Amino acid sequence: MFNTLPAAPPDSILGLTDAWKNDPNPLKVNLGVGVFKDDAGNTPILASVKAAEALILQSATTKSYMPISGAPEYGTCVQEMVFGAGHEVVKSGRARTAHTPGGTAALRVGADFLKKALPGATVWMSSPTWANHKGVFAAAGFGSADYPYYDAVGKGLDFTRMRETLEAIPAGDIVLLHACCHNPSGVDLDAAQWEIVAEIAARRGWLPFLDFAYQGYGDGLAEDRAGVLALAAKCPEFMIASSFSKNFGLYQDRTGALTLVAESSAVAASAFSNVEIAIRVNYSNPPAHGGLIVKTILTDTALHQQWVNELDGMRNHIAAIRTRFVTALADHGVPGDYSFISRQKGMFSFSGLSDAQVKFLKENKSIYIVGGGRINVAGITSRNMEYLCTSIKEAMEIR
Ligand SMILES: Cc1ncc(COP(=O)(O)O)c(C=O)c1O
Repeated sequence: MFNTLPAAPPDSILGLTDAWKNDPNPLKVNLGVGVFKDDAGNTPILASVKAAEALILQSATTKSYMPISGAPEYGTCVQEMVFGAGHEVVKSGRARTAHTPGGTAALRVGADFLKKALPGATVWMSSPTWANHKGVFAAAGFGSADYPYYDAVGKGLDFTRMRETLEAIPAGDIVLLHACCHNPSGVDLDAAQWEIVAEIAARRGWLPFLDFAYQGYGDGLAEDRAGVLALAAKCPEFMIASSFSKNFGLYQDRTGALTLVAESSAVAASAFSNVEIAIRVNYSNPPAHGGLIVKTILTDTALHQQWVNELDGMRNHIAAIRTRFVTALADHGVPGDYSFISRQKGMFSFSGLSDAQVKFLKENKSIYIVGGGRINVAGITSRNMEYLCTSIKEAMEIR
């Protein structure tokens, strides 16, 4: 039976890392997968995470099952992180949070829940968006459509066209929005634009679903809440998928959260019971370890401060790399103005490299970049900067 299935193509992002791992070239560079790297090219375990793990190891007494939606205290501290302490949505009980295995599971559980609540809805996604978004929502049975987002000529946000499309989306459809550090472009909405989007959502009656995979990587933990707060102020119902892979560095511990906001605490509780069904049939209950780390850090004043400092350090490192890369490209005589790279937020940048140039860099220089020209800026280090710039200059001669 199985040989009737054609082989699936390698994953466009994780498949690239496999190819990079198998490449014997000592100069190889991986600018594909969205993983933070320090200037030595390592993805270290945060010291706050190590300290939390030591505490957990000492105090843990059981490996019994977790509740379906994770520990209640996890939900409480995640809500405080996402909305800020004392927010009305939290105090009123209008938000309910499930601990999920990473941001991907938060999206998938959210999608399965929405397929029950809004079975005929179309899911609107930014053009472009994270490569896995379409697949996750398609797996839950949704069709998708695009709204304009990135302006390839101006290297910024095409807010006029985005707004026009959002105005035309029918009530009951779902709109997936990147809360900050848009993947793949690094181009975000400002606070005033978020207010406009929230107002359109409330008036038109479509459901916002925020993908919040990079809180703290844009301008800071509080600053990156602009979209969440605008929606909370205007929209009675919305959903948020958080990932703690990047901001806590918990990639392999698969830690995230799905938060549902409803018009009242009673509606939130009844809707959330359906979220729990979606979890039960997918993976029953979440893996405990990453959630315990996040809860331990967020509830311990000293560890919390240590983690905030480490997160600030990662964000500042990427911002510095962006500036150095722009300068290095100019110093190497790479044609064009790349100053937009230093204005973009988070790990990613649309380099403007064509698919042919991306192919050339992979095949001739062992430099791995996702199709479409998205680069993970965090993959650039002092050691590979020179090699990258000279290689990109050569690639630029290809059309
Ligand atoms: C926009 C976006 N959403 C969700 C995710 C998934 O995060 P996780 O690895 O926690 O599942 C990612 C990861 O790269 C992402 O970039």
